[in-house]
Amino acid sequence: MASAQKIPAKMTAIAISEPGGPRVLKPETRDVPLPGPGEILIRVRAAGVNRPDVQQRKGAYPPPPGASDLPGLEASGEVAALGDEISRWRVGDRVCALTPGGGYAEYVKVHAGSVLPLPAGFTHTEAAAVPENYFTVWHNMFERGGLKSGETLLVHGGSSGIGTTAIQLAAAFGAYVVTTAGSKEKCDACLKLGADRAINYREEDFVAAVKEATGGKGANVILDMVGGDYVARNYEAAALEGRIVQIATQGGAVASADFSKIMVKRLVHTGSTLRPRTVEFKAAIAAALEAQVWPLLGTRKVAPVMDMIFPLKEAWRAHERMEDGEHIGKIVLDVG
Ligand SMILES: NC(=O)c1ccc[n+]([C@@H]2O[C@H](COP(=O)([O-])OP(=O)(O)OC[C@H]3O[C@@H](n4cnc5c(N)ncnc54)[C@H](OP(=O)(O)O)[C@@H]3O)[C@@H](O)[C@H]2O)c1
Repeated sequence: MASAQKIPAKMTAIAISEPGGPRVLKPETRDVPLPGPGEILIRVRAAGVNRPDVQQRKGAYPPPPGASDLPGLEASGEVAALGDEISRWRVGDRVCALTPGGGYAEYVKVHAGSVLPLPAGFTHTEAAAVPENYFTVWHNMFERGGLKSGETLLVHGGSSGIGTTAIQLAAAFGAYVVTTAGSKEKCDACLKLGADRAINYREEDFVAAVKEATGGKGANVILDMVGGDYVARNYEAAALEGRIVQIATQGGAVASADFSKIMVKRLVHTGSTLRPRTVEFKAAIAAALEAQVWPLLGTRKVAPVMDMIFPLKEAWRAHERMEDGEHIGKIVLDVG
């Protein structure tokens, strides 16, 4: 290690004792990880909770090779130690980071390219709510989906961490935003965040609502976390030359759809997962976010929607809240 503050040998972390329900999340004493070349060690102050953590806890989303077995895809805190070949960061810098795993712990090591400064004026709990959603939405909505100012976005799950981020960023960059959510309270929250139209998918057909909201044209970009029977309906709701970006398949990974719609409307149906991508790829997204989104976070034109904060040792309660589905925005762990 090139540089370090006093670091203990052991730390408290939340581990997945076996695949299962929220109670399998248990505090454990683990070795503090050592940063290698190009990596930094963060003394974690807060860690974001994401739906993929729930999937990992159930045994359905194993960490990629080389990643920590501990859950946690994002964290904020202070730089505690620097590996070799780090020029930008200094011990003590306040940062937030996308982590390949291991965020539910007092210390986490990350590649320097996945680290960003705390947005101006942000607390650690707010900053920990940013990386996973902003990296995912930036890449899938703008880079993969090619959303442009003046176009219409349809984002499913508008009140989720991902959805609240997509609504705000799309609106900030000049798109017309339509979203779906499962209750009036969630739809109201989406409208407050900048959505132009919020569809309660339990009461309204989103295909008809999108057509009505767009004068029959449909959505230019659809960011979808549902899949299943939404696939065929997304093809219906899409505009000519529409781009449908799949980021999850909560409603089913196997679907039957009329593929002639792809030809007739010249649609693109794509998708991606962030976690297994290379450190170079993540560094490129970090650079784009710092240039184009960090100024918006600094003035609070966009900001994470904070749902609830739980102490690290009560991570199981955070997962219970996420699985209850009552939350709006982000659930965060306070690591102290
Ligand atoms: N591809 C990637 O790189 C990537 C990265 C991060 C997250 N993700 C995925 O993105 C999704 C959101 O993550 P998150 O952490 O923001 O989770 P979250 O806050 O728990 O949100 C889950 C959302 O899914 C919605 N939903 C579930 N089933 C639905 C259905 N049948 N119809 C409509 N909406 C449905 C829920 O809407 P209601 O509550 O309104 O029912 C809720 O808003 C997750 O599926 C996650 O796995 C993907």
